[in-house]
Amino acid sequence: MKIGILTSGGDCAGLNPVIRAIGLYLYNNVKNVELVGIPEGYAGLIRGESFPLTCDDLKGLLTLGGTILRTRRTPFKRMTVMEEGGTRLSKMIANYKKMGLDCLFTLGGAGTHKTAALLSMEGCNVIGVPKTIDNDIFGTDVTFGFRTAVEVVTEAFDRIETTTRSHSRIMLVEVMGNKAGWLTLHSGIAAGAHMILIPEIPFNLNAVCSFVDARIAAGETYTMIAVAEGATLDTEAKLKREERTFARSALGESTITRHLAEVIGEHTGQETRHSVLGYLQRGGTPCAFDRLLCTQLGSYAARLAVEGKFGVTAAVLGNKITFNALADVAGKYKFVDPKGEEVAIARGIGISFGDRV
Ligand code: F6P
Repeated sequence: MKIGILTSGGDCAGLNPVIRAIGLYLYNNVKNVELVGIPEGYAGLIRGESFPLTCDDLKGLLTLGGTILRTRRTPFKRMTVMEEGGTRLSKMIANYKKMGLDCLFTLGGAGTHKTAALLSMEGCNVIGVPKTIDNDIFGTDVTFGFRTAVEVVTEAFDRIETTTRSHSRIMLVEVMGNKAGWLTLHSGIAAGAHMILIPEIPFNLNAVCSFVDARIAAGETYTMIAVAEGATLDTEAKLKREERTFARSALGESTITRHLAEVIGEHTGQETRHSVLGYLQRGGTPCAFDRLLCTQLGSYAARLAVEGKFGVTAAVLGNKITFNALADVAGKYKFVDPKGEEVAIARGIGISFGDRV
């Protein structure tokens, strides 16, 4: 049995532990298994590159951040576009066959799943494992990498809070998450943010300023605001995507955080700063929760391969490791429900989402 593994899209903590778990399960349970890594995600498969992954190569991976296979974003929309030598999809299928793979594991997010579903439809045996710090993959309660990122962002927030409190400032902390606000919501609640701005709940400038005014009037000396990369003004939310991008670039920004800090600072007259956490959110060693989850997902996915269950992706549903058909979940996202329990609980303890005056 020859098995390939690739990691695609933005990296996160947990990719290496999943590779390890897949490998350990196969080496422990299958005779004559050959495991290969495909470098740089689908780009490596398009080029037809692979290298052996021996038992020795799996050592030390449980605690190692990033991905030993390296990763890359390979946009789905270009997969079926004709270029020299055929489409990227046809090249991947040809290389899958040339490598003699019996199964390909694709460790990635929503975009990775879309390409995996395409490969599966074309007859390749594919099994996905759901990765992303954004936690936005449809059909799974949690993705690996998310909980580590929540820990990292919460700790960063805690550190920023002590300096903010010392200086009696208003602080906006920008957290990754372009489409979905899970990371901002969970770390914001965990760190005790006073306001949380997420893409799913467009915010209103008056509501944001009134909330900060009310805190100042109540004698509060500082305010912590968690802002998702994809947080959107209510006025922007009404625009088409291209119009919004245009409006943002007119401000010289891709995110709203710096502009919002300026507006709040001018409005309140209080020292206001912002801090963009950036790529530290994706780096470093996986937390214990993710090490366990990655081990469970990886070994479960490997078992699916042994049982010949392909065209699926591993998932967590109600504390159980299970699977979804790639065709059912690919291309779908899981968003924070503005009317859901998590948002209600946050509102209940006085956290503002910047949408209500
Ligand atoms: O992995 C998802 C994500 O972390 C998003 O939250 C973020 O917008 C994006 O990746 C940025 O990734 P890159 O700059 O590596 O493409």
